[in-house]
Amino acid sequence: MTITKEQILHALSHVEEPDLKKDLVTLHMIQNIEILPNKIKFDVVLTTPACPLKGHIEHACRNAIALFISKEIEVDINMTSRVTSVDPNQLKGIKNIILVSSGKGGVGKSTVASNLALALANTGAKTGLLDADIYGPSLPIMFGLEGAKPMASQLPDGSTKIEPIEKFGLKLLSIGFFTDPNQPIPWRGPMATSAIKQLFNDADWGELDYLVVDMPPGTGDIHITVSQTYPISGAVIVTTPQQVALADAIKGMAMYQMEGINVPILGIVENMAYFTPAELPDNKYYIFGKDGGKRLAESNNVPFLGEIPLVKAVADAGDNGFPIILDDSESIADAYKSIAGRVAQELSILANISS
Ligand SMILES: Nc1ncnc2c1ncn2[C@@H]1O[C@H](COP(=O)(O)OP(=O)(O)OP(=O)(O)O)[C@@H](O)[C@H]1O
Ligand SMILES: [Mg+2]
Repeated sequence: MTITKEQILHALSHVEEPDLKKDLVTLHMIQNIEILPNKIKFDVVLTTPACPLKGHIEHACRNAIALFISKEIEVDINMTSRVTSVDPNQLKGIKNIILVSSGKGGVGKSTVASNLALALANTGAKTGLLDADIYGPSLPIMFGLEGAKPMASQLPDGSTKIEPIEKFGLKLLSIGFFTDPNQPIPWRGPMATSAIKQLFNDADWGELDYLVVDMPPGTGDIHITVSQTYPISGAVIVTTPQQVALADAIKGMAMYQMEGINVPILGIVENMAYFTPAELPDNKYYIFGKDGGKRLAESNNVPFLGEIPLVKAVADAGDNGFPIILDDSESIADAYKSIAGRVAQELSILANISS
């Protein structure tokens, strides 16, 4: 039986990318088709290596070949990816900048940002993590990098170039690397914003698929400056289910949606959703209330990205400089991986709409 390239494309034009709601051929996702005796090969180029539907799409391709061409032919599919960019005005080679934000402090932004960035990096995406919390940088402790000093060099034109520190497959920078952890810094507005701008502009981030930014609490100067100065792909809003946190999360979202800021909300993460004591593994205690984050997402018509329970190991991992997602024995790591997949999906959808 002779098979043609057209037959293969016709068969695969019946496979829809479930998020993008278009078929794989229209989306130019089918590439490098090879036709060998009794075997066909092709690449499926996804919009993110973190695509949670990877297995589903591969299966649908095999079914389409079996249905429209033949069940007898061997099919060799190479699932690969090229990350798409939401904003066509990229900051140097950074395809997507993701802000992890909240209104209220202490709800788990830094923990979510760290684990989200690591989860994306673990799928093979080139990822950076920038700690923009001028007032309480957490990244140095969370990554066991207290005292680390990034290399900084003066370029001939007088500008500075800062080398991010590499750890666990991520490129990292924190304002905390440049300050004394024991001295409070009385940042004035313009000083704080210019310090943050240096971390974006003067850092040698190289090419990145995702730059995750751990934002300070609140809705202040830093938020406005970062949102207005850089091409931000979207914001992840972290909240606990507690009323006070939800009220601040609403303010946080409203700020990003203001005219002149217009940062898309990628969705809401509900942190500290419930507590399960080790000795009562079937019990869930809703210490801060139940489903507050989920309801907030519904009422604001934004995606709900997932929930994370209150688990002592998460706090310990942060303190020990080894984020929980790196510990495969902890099932909670899967909650962060699932959130990372959802974030990547939402970015792919936005990039597809804007292209
Ligand atoms: N799911 C969780 N289970 C247990 N502890 C958690 C969880 N998420 C965060 N924590 C802990 O709660 C504290 C606050 O978390 P984190 O520093 O991530 O919050 P934040 O929103 O970044 O705070 P800030 O507003 O001060 O920047 C930390 O000690 C962290 O280890
Ligand atoms: Mg923080």
